[in-house]
Amino acid sequence: MPAISLRQLLDHAAEHQYGVPAFNINNMEQLIAIMRAAEQTRAPVILQASRGARSYAGDMMIRKMIEAAELMWPNIPICVHQDHGNSPNTCLSAIQYGFHSVMMDGSLMEDAKTPADYDYNVAVTAKVVEFAHALGVSVEGELGCLGSLETGQGEKEDGHGFEGTLGHNMLLTDPDQAVDFVKKTKVDALAIAMGTSHGAYKFSRKPDGDILAMNLVKEIHKKLPNTHLVMHGSSSVPQDLQDIINQYGGEMPQTYGVPVSEIQVGIKHGVRKINIDTDCRMAIIGQYRKVAQEKPGEIDPRNFNKPAMEAMTKICKDRLEQFGTAGMADKIKPILLSDMAKAYLKGQLDPKFS
Ligand code: G3H
Ligand code: 13P
Ligand code: ZN
Repeated sequence: MPAISLRQLLDHAAEHQYGVPAFNINNMEQLIAIMRAAEQTRAPVILQASRGARSYAGDMMIRKMIEAAELMWPNIPICVHQDHGNSPNTCLSAIQYGFHSVMMDGSLMEDAKTPADYDYNVAVTAKVVEFAHALGVSVEGELGCLGSLETGQGEKEDGHGFEGTLGHNMLLTDPDQAVDFVKKTKVDALAIAMGTSHGAYKFSRKPDGDILAMNLVKEIHKKLPNTHLVMHGSSSVPQDLQDIINQYGGEMPQTYGVPVSEIQVGIKHGVRKINIDTDCRMAIIGQYRKVAQEKPGEIDPRNFNKPAMEAMTKICKDRLEQFGTAGMADKIKPILLSDMAKAYLKGQLDPKFS
């Protein structure tokens, strides 16, 4: 099956009222775990690679792993997405390596730690949209900085995330500015800042409206009913995964993630892409720790990786089912990126396109 563009996939999701988890990949084991989940639930998938993932595995390795996945799972629509691109160059090189979608995160400057001003964000995002759309590639932008409303701080992921402390004005996307941003940049999807942050330590208590701004999602969706919204930092940090890690020698202080029920509310209000990395990391590490503790003589990495992949497949399946993505693989026929490019040029794309 040809690749599917993010735009077509999210248009389909909007039309059929579901959300699509975007899972991060860094290696073969994570890729296989996700693809098994997609196959078992008959779900389309978004596989995303951060800059850190690209330098960890190497661009050519990621490209070839994706090609292998397309051959091994020919009936599953796959969208490969650049997570948190920090510059037009990063987005361009992702496209050159065959990605079908890019995120230009202009909420931060190219150093990925200095909050950017609005005009910079608009300019850099619009520039990426111009060359990406000409190739049929979709673009996600971000408005507002991801970070905790409790502490004002952002969690650094591999060097990505602002330094210091920000006020709520920067940590919550302004709905009117969002309307202007989408109009000026023509992004296909918009990541919003609403109190989530990357990593395991999102909330010090089960989140309520004061620290997880679901009302903001509703407000933005009202003003931008045809824009696909993206929730970053949306791992749920499940208690059972925290417990497994701690049971087998880990030292994770009690923490709280984004409840699945809140994401489901988001899906009712325009959230179409939900970014999940941390939950998958935790599923893997819990099993690594378990094997290491229960079988101290074990030296075959495959005997660590097999249960780790099973645990990751399980959490991916859960999310594909909970977000309504399950069963959609057979209901969507990917449009070639070259045809998407023509549709962009002719201005034929609207949320009913697919
Ligand atoms: O952007 C957040 C993702 O969790 C990726 O993390 O940059 O450590 O690969 P990473
Ligand atoms: P989590 O750290 O919550 O999994 O978020 C991942 C993410 O937003 C990747 O862009
Ligand atoms: Zn993110």
